[in-house]
Amino acid sequence: MNIVLGVGGGIAAYKSALLLRLFTEAGHAVTVIPTEASTKFVGVATWEALSGRPVTNDVFDSVDQVNHVRIGHEADLIVVAPATADLLAKAAGGHANDLLTTTLLMARGPVLFAPAMHTEMWQHASTVANVATLRSRGVLVLDPAVGRLTGPDTGPGRLPEPEEIFAAAMALISDVPDATPVTEDAGSPAPLSTEPEVAAPAAVVPTEPAASVPDTSKRINGPLSGVRVLITAGGTREPLDPVRYLGNKSSGKQGVALAEAALAAGADVILIHAPMEVPAPAGASIQRIETALELRSATLAASATADVVIMAAAVADFRPANISTGKIKKRDNADDPIIRLVRNPDILVEVVAHRAAQNQKQLIVGFAAETGDDQGDAQAYAQQKIVRKGCDLLVVNEVGPGDSGDERVFGQDTNHVEILSLDGASPVQSDGSKREVADAVVHLIAQRLAAG
Ligand code: C5P
Repeated sequence: MNIVLGVGGGIAAYKSALLLRLFTEAGHAVTVIPTEASTKFVGVATWEALSGRPVTNDVFDSVDQVNHVRIGHEADLIVVAPATADLLAKAAGGHANDLLTTTLLMARGPVLFAPAMHTEMWQHASTVANVATLRSRGVLVLDPAVGRLTGPDTGPGRLPEPEEIFAAAMALISDVPDATPVTEDAGSPAPLSTEPEVAAPAAVVPTEPAASVPDTSKRINGPLSGVRVLITAGGTREPLDPVRYLGNKSSGKQGVALAEAALAAGADVILIHAPMEVPAPAGASIQRIETALELRSATLAASATADVVIMAAAVADFRPANISTGKIKKRDNADDPIIRLVRNPDILVEVVAHRAAQNQKQLIVGFAAETGDDQGDAQAYAQQKIVRKGCDLLVVNEVGPGDSGDERVFGQDTNHVEILSLDGASPVQSDGSKREVADAVVHLIAQRLAAG
């Protein structure tokens, strides 16, 4: 694929070097277009060395090749990372005053923006309106990650991790045939100028492994061969201040077991996970997130091309209304702090709604950790939940202390579940290790897909 990587003028521009490497290692040809301002953070020489092709941001370079028209036309995908508030505004307003903005205006393929800016800029009414305009046109604008920003401030505004941007980008083009190798043959974009290649200065070459790129040579032939399965796992963390968060007891073990079971059945697995106690399995495409809002943007992007979505993540229903920029202090003469919470979106419900809006053929599986109370037992609550959420299957486990007084599910290696069907088919029970339960879920999914 021909990918254009637009780089905006923000300190996070250096992270795009890792993103570029993920693209090239996956076999894509990448043309980098840095804005003028971004070259103050990362120089043209770095982009040329890492992409293996000349780089410019000047519309008047190589005018004979009509670059400002050609690059956008030939791009299978345009990714802008970091996308500054200024670039979002220019794209929403249709400006075309440099090579990146003209390329964006020429684009007819998918476009992804990965914003990075200070929280105030991201939350400013102008940026909110520009993002809404772009999204209404079908442009994928990721939500920025929440965390420490360049100065002492903390909040939404960090560039999402390169692996997350990579996975969202791959999801956008995944229904198009496999990546073409990077060559200078016909079909690859011509160089932007005739400057010679520059060797990469050792210090700028990213050394982290491309953890999210699965090894497709080890694909297994099984009941889910060729099926794209998106799995969410782990427990989200909702920050309160730079060092504290609201979390939950999810270990991620059941989600990882599901990913392993789906891989063993031959599926192409995308695992989007919040923090977990266990490592993510090899062979899956991995995206790590922290918060429910990050999980939401990653899941909605990846679910657009998934045949099966399994939502095993324990998502926080609420997040702190405000994230303190400094550590919340305990002061002897001050009142204890009161934390106001706001509701997180229900991602499972949104995935179901998107499927309907897109008229997409997709099997959606939810999870429910239930406890009974004096109003009804866990099964009765689960039955209401599958109807309310609208997912095809709901894997229900009763959580809380068992007869021995110990927790039955969270952090344990075994599980006991009942799998409910929206279509009223009899519930299926599964008991055993989390992997055995995962195999039972995958078996049921394969049966459903086979039945059409
Ligand atoms: O409502 P409850 O948390 O019990 O629903 C559990 C199911 O819904 C799980 O599949 C979980 O991943 C998903 N969920 C979600 N978004 C939320 C809360 C839960 O997608 N905000």
